[in-house]
Amino acid sequence: MESAGSLDTKFRRWLQNPYRLLKQYIIEGLTVLDVGCGPGFFSIPLAEMVGPAGKVIAADLQEGMLEIIHNKIKSTDLEKNIQLHKCEKERIGYTGEVDFVLAFYVIHELPDQKKFFDEMFSILKPGGYFLIVEPKMHISKKDLTTTISQSGDAGFQLFDLPKIFLSRSVVLKK
Ligand SMILES: C[S@@+](CC[C@H](N)C(=O)[O-])C[C@H]1O[C@@H](n2cnc3c(N)ncnc32)[C@H](O)[C@@H]1O
Repeated sequence: MESAGSLDTKFRRWLQNPYRLLKQYIIEGLTVLDVGCGPGFFSIPLAEMVGPAGKVIAADLQEGMLEIIHNKIKSTDLEKNIQLHKCEKERIGYTGEVDFVLAFYVIHELPDQKKFFDEMFSILKPGGYFLIVEPKMHISKKDLTTTISQSGDAGFQLFDLPKIFLSRSVVLKK
């Protein structure tokens, strides 16, 4: 399993605080897809931010990551508004409508970005935002330009290029 421990540390919380990074996009009641959620570093704060009226779909290829989230939220109120979703390698496979998508340090691991963007475009509501964050050590500026261009082929518009520590990031709008 990808190292779940290194994805959920105090140090990371300080550098990439989920509440600080996401507060401008998230309000109570939204339905959010955290794609490639890992051990829930973002899914759990997102669930707190959307509140009981909202929902977070925590989606990952690795059953072990979903199990970690399950263990973190079991017997808490968050159990009610986090839905765990097991992806297939070639397909995220969630088919409900969502207001916001987060893909943090995931896209460079996907086998087919074009297919992925088509899938995300089909589930995001019109006017919805999609935040993509990639690790600078794996993704060059040119790679990010290619990613933005592929998202454009699926129908997304470039909305913003936020600055996130150690990362290359883009906000897309449907
Ligand atoms: C580097 S981790 C990032 C986890 C989390 N987003 C974070 O920032 O803490 C990448 C995650 O993407 C997941 N992943 C890789 N390929 C995937 C795919 N095809 N579909 C869904 N998830 C995938 C991995 O299992 C892993 O949990």
